[in-house]
Amino acid sequence: MSVKPKVFVSRVIPDAGLKRIKDHCDAEIWTDPLPPPHAVLREKVAGCEGLVALLTDKMDATLMDAAPRLKVVSNYAVGFNNIDIAAATERGICVGNTPGVLTDATADMAFCLLIAAARRVVEGHQYTLSGKWKTWEPIGHLGQDLAGKTLGVVGMGRIGYAIAQRCHAGWDMTILYHDVYRSEKAERDLGAKQVDFDTLLRESDFVSVHTDLNEKTRHMFGAEQFKKMKRTAVFVNSARGPLVDQKALHDALKSGTIFAAGLDVTDPEPPEMNDPLLKLSNVVIAPHIASATVGTRNAMAEICADNLIAGLTGQKLPAWVNPEVEGKRRKT
Ligand code: DGY
Repeated sequence: MSVKPKVFVSRVIPDAGLKRIKDHCDAEIWTDPLPPPHAVLREKVAGCEGLVALLTDKMDATLMDAAPRLKVVSNYAVGFNNIDIAAATERGICVGNTPGVLTDATADMAFCLLIAAARRVVEGHQYTLSGKWKTWEPIGHLGQDLAGKTLGVVGMGRIGYAIAQRCHAGWDMTILYHDVYRSEKAERDLGAKQVDFDTLLRESDFVSVHTDLNEKTRHMFGAEQFKKMKRTAVFVNSARGPLVDQKALHDALKSGTIFAAGLDVTDPEPPEMNDPLLKLSNVVIAPHIASATVGTRNAMAEICADNLIAGLTGQKLPAWVNPEVEGKRRKT
């Protein structure tokens, strides 16, 4: 009887993937609602060949060095800024992620935040709950129109395209985008125009961020960038919190430099309860739930299991972040 590979799963993920993982592996599953502390994770992966990680698990070189048998890290997320990819590749460890299946759910959430912030929905909800609603107000609660406006997409990948598609088809918006790559598809299908970052900031009514977090993009939105935006602009971030200098965003919202913001991500996560951003009425903050639909999380779990098993059995990972590792993959 062959021995099943030992893996650690750092949180309970949907059965759609977890069941396959349990069938193929000798799996230890972390059942706490909060992530394992770094030291505990280090201890848990020490004897493992595989790890299912979440974006809350920092997979750095020290942790990899503590796990000499580790062949694969299967991230339960499309983003992989929690993993030191260069260190993984250097050590012959495969890394997988979950692209594609969360595109629609994430674009839906970005749009939800955009319209909620533009039309002051959460503020209105609080107003109702607090008993301040006394009558219909002709000049109260005024927000921003959406139809025919300009959306600026920063990062025209799958999710950037999907929000642009929604805004163009449904709200007849003009689409500007900023990306190092040209998107012929967005240009052809949506009439999108590639522009430099400053032009996008200056001309957009809505700015939605869909770029990776890396050392070049960290704090790409700071005081200077918010100052270039329209005073009526709505800023949306459903990518990663550290893309934004959160203090600068707070100041821009408080001073009326921009109109409102919708955030699914913050820096840190969760924000400190005394963060002044939480006191503002023109920001809507969701707890990093853009991919949180039943279907999407199931699909993510399936890819995550497929990546893990492929990594353990020496196969090609279906969604492989570092295919350049092939040739020096760990064989234990
Ligand atoms: C991701 O996948 O990177 C999201 O942030 C969580 O689904």
